[in-house]
Amino acid sequence: MPHEDHATTGDDRPRRTDELRSRHWFGAGGRSGMLYRSWMRNQGFADDVFDGRPVVGIAVSGSELAPCNAHLSRLAESVKRGIWEAGGFPLEFPVMALGETVLRPTAMLYRNLLAMEAEELFRANPLDGVVLLSGCDKTTPGLLMAAASADLPALMLTGGPMLNGKFRGEDIGSGTHVWKFEEEVRAGRMTEAECGFAESCMSRSNGHCMTMGTASTMACMAEALGMQPAYGATWPAVDARRYAMAQRSGRRIVDLVHQDIRPSSIMTREAFENAVRVNAAIGGSTNAVIHLTAIAGRLGVDLDLDDFDTLVRDVPTLLDLMPSGRFLMEDFCYAGGLPAVIAELGDLLHTDAVTVTGEPLDAPARARAAECYDRRVIRPLDDPLQRAGSGTAVLRGNLAPGGAVLKQSAASEHLMVHRGRAKVFDSPEEYYAVSDDPDLDVDADTVLVVRNCGPAGYPGMPEVSNVALPSKLLAAGVTDMVRVCDGRMSGTAYGTVVLHTSPEAAVGGPLALVRDGDTVSLDVPGRSLSLEVDPEELERRAAAWNRPEPHSPRGWTKLYCDTVLQAEHGADLDFLVGHSGHEVPRESH
Ligand code: FES
Ligand code: MG
Repeated sequence: MPHEDHATTGDDRPRRTDELRSRHWFGAGGRSGMLYRSWMRNQGFADDVFDGRPVVGIAVSGSELAPCNAHLSRLAESVKRGIWEAGGFPLEFPVMALGETVLRPTAMLYRNLLAMEAEELFRANPLDGVVLLSGCDKTTPGLLMAAASADLPALMLTGGPMLNGKFRGEDIGSGTHVWKFEEEVRAGRMTEAECGFAESCMSRSNGHCMTMGTASTMACMAEALGMQPAYGATWPAVDARRYAMAQRSGRRIVDLVHQDIRPSSIMTREAFENAVRVNAAIGGSTNAVIHLTAIAGRLGVDLDLDDFDTLVRDVPTLLDLMPSGRFLMEDFCYAGGLPAVIAELGDLLHTDAVTVTGEPLDAPARARAAECYDRRVIRPLDDPLQRAGSGTAVLRGNLAPGGAVLKQSAASEHLMVHRGRAKVFDSPEEYYAVSDDPDLDVDADTVLVVRNCGPAGYPGMPEVSNVALPSKLLAAGVTDMVRVCDGRMSGTAYGTVVLHTSPEAAVGGPLALVRDGDTVSLDVPGRSLSLEVDPEELERRAAAWNRPEPHSPRGWTKLYCDTVLQAEHGADLDFLVGHSGHEVPRESH
């Protein structure tokens, strides 16, 4: 339907003069209109909700099985208040809730399913706009992908991080301390009972991981893209001000509908450049590379893997948050939140990029509200945590012709240029079956290759790449080793781990051809990852390679494995790339 005409109303807000799409349902005459309205009335709405006001959906990606998002229905109540206040008609509805910690084989297998479900619901229902409530890792990109493909006016509000973990007087971070405590227990420095107590100290309020893991990263990405209001990424989940922001967001989405401001006019190439740069400044998760690429693919915005390297060469890491640094999201909030980072980056960003608030990205800076209150947490540009160019490195070479990534801020300096003998495992399970073996043939220079963890291989490209070090090396005091994998790594994790190696082993990428004892060469400053084996020998190995059996002959897993794209294309499904808009479908009766 046409959405281009605007007129000015008495309150100076431009209003659409064309009919809202919800009128095709609730404004219909005869039998159809009665069918669309009558059943809605069983919820006790007053007659005038059908008077032509904007109908706004609130997509809630929460459930008790997705603990990071379990409070979102409460947040939705505050959004509703704002929508009613602004003269809209709010309707809350559930979308697939993806709990990162519990879903097997990985929540990532279902990101595209959430995106597909939500896109279809946005289009098939009588909605004029939608508020996206997300939090846990995959829910934020999944809903942004859906919003991009349906291109209805949309505003995102993430659910906020948990309060800082507290254990014996120290701050502990979600995820990051799981890896640390596991190593402590395996090295005999912590008992199982102590670890059990620490477990309850780590997760002590509603909210998502409070480290700079994928959830916090993607919340910041939503804000940097302009899809989430300023400060939306950082208020803790339980902070009253998040609920006040939700109420204001409810008012604002009604304006967005009246003004017909859609995701495609906010998430432009400039907005993605901002997001990529902000990701470097916050020391964000490598998962942002995959998710931003997938979102851009829905919009037809040209964003490729090399952008994540070249765009950030002049951006230092400013934020001192775990896993790369010391602090947590609550500290980031009190230090000034993302607007303080944006103010610090200044001209490194397109500061005039339009956001859902109707104001430019740097509006808090222009209003001098974006002050930094703690320079230990948000460092100044001239005294950063890590120098420019130390963010995500994109590696290429005969082992990764499609690319691979490495998070430099989570890696060890002494391994940045490294040649080592490969020890190859066809799965993480195969590795863990022997990782405690004192006779395992590895030393500190070995390159651990773990494969078949890619999108089609695992399936779903799980966060298993940072395999724990072999026990005998841990006991000897080794703290890091080069690992090469076609899977992902949790944003809360650390280590010199080459991730997203593409093409993945399961589709016959070069990673499938590595054998024990081959020399693997990593050169991060030179951005290369190579296998020092003769091309003729690699050809012989390729000719002898057999494609693994399919994971499933039916259902979602089959559809996923048959159509999933490689990591450098965002691991979206090939037929979901692009957008279909929100034309009103045919009558149902
Ligand atoms: Fe949900 Fe980390 S597990 S945000
Ligand atoms: Mg994760």
